[in-house]
Amino acid sequence: MLYQMAVQNPESEIDFVDRTFKRVRGRAASVIREDFCGTAYSSCAWVRRRKTNRAIGVDLHLPTLRWGERHNLSTLTEEQRSRVTLLHRDVMKVGGEGRGVDAVLAMNFSWFYMTERRALVAYFKSVRESLVDDGVLFMDIYGGYEATKEQVEKRRERGFKYVWDQAKYDPISGMQTAHIHFEFKRGPAMKRAFTYIWRLYSLPEVRDALMDADFKRVTVYWEGDDGKGGGNGVFRPATRGESCASFVSYVVAEK
Ligand SMILES: C[S@@+](CC[C@H](N)C(=O)[O-])C[C@H]1O[C@@H](n2cnc3c(N)ncnc32)[C@H](O)[C@@H]1O
Repeated sequence: MLYQMAVQNPESEIDFVDRTFKRVRGRAASVIREDFCGTAYSSCAWVRRRKTNRAIGVDLHLPTLRWGERHNLSTLTEEQRSRVTLLHRDVMKVGGEGRGVDAVLAMNFSWFYMTERRALVAYFKSVRESLVDDGVLFMDIYGGYEATKEQVEKRRERGFKYVWDQAKYDPISGMQTAHIHFEFKRGPAMKRAFTYIWRLYSLPEVRDALMDADFKRVTVYWEGDDGKGGGNGVFRPATRGESCASFVSYVVAEK
């Protein structure tokens, strides 16, 4: 729950997906597949949005899927719930039920788990095959000159502190180990509530891998700034960005 409050904002993510799909394809998407869906938070937001929307969530970790059923899917009406399918599977082996989708979402940097380039390209190829002819893959990525730094950042949330701990980075393999801790005014901290061991890919690396997987067009959506050194939450297609300490961008790959 703390993780969802601190890290996820499915409404703005789904706004971006919905709006961008319409803009690039001239129609609304209705079936999405949420890869690495975890608690299927975005799938729930998607089916709430329109009666014709369907979502397929895919994740390897059964306890997380179960948590999502209890805490997120349970907040849907029965009719909305009937439009979500959860698949307890590896995203590389989704099978027929995960095919024929308008969009695939690989968010919260989970595709960083494909630590070998060959595996990443194979994943992109399998996504491409799962998409309808005018389908689109949506991903997010973080970077910037502080992304590889071994450092701890704290952010105040309602009732707790969210701590992002970039514990280790290896420049040769590009592998990073990062933890999320939660701290409270009273009581002990939740140390290492989540740990990520993954490869920090750069934007040009991911673009090249998507092109190698035969996506026709890859667009980076770069966030505008708020004039105070932060992002303004508005992501626009860009071919040039600034060298900044940290950024989060969307990468949109059209089949
Ligand atoms: C960083 S979490 C993201 C969860 C969720 N999408 C979110 O936004 O919070 C990564 C998730 O990917 C899942 N995962 C990792 N490798 C996977 C794979 N090969 N196939 C399916 N799920 C995978 C993990 O079980 C975990 O739930």
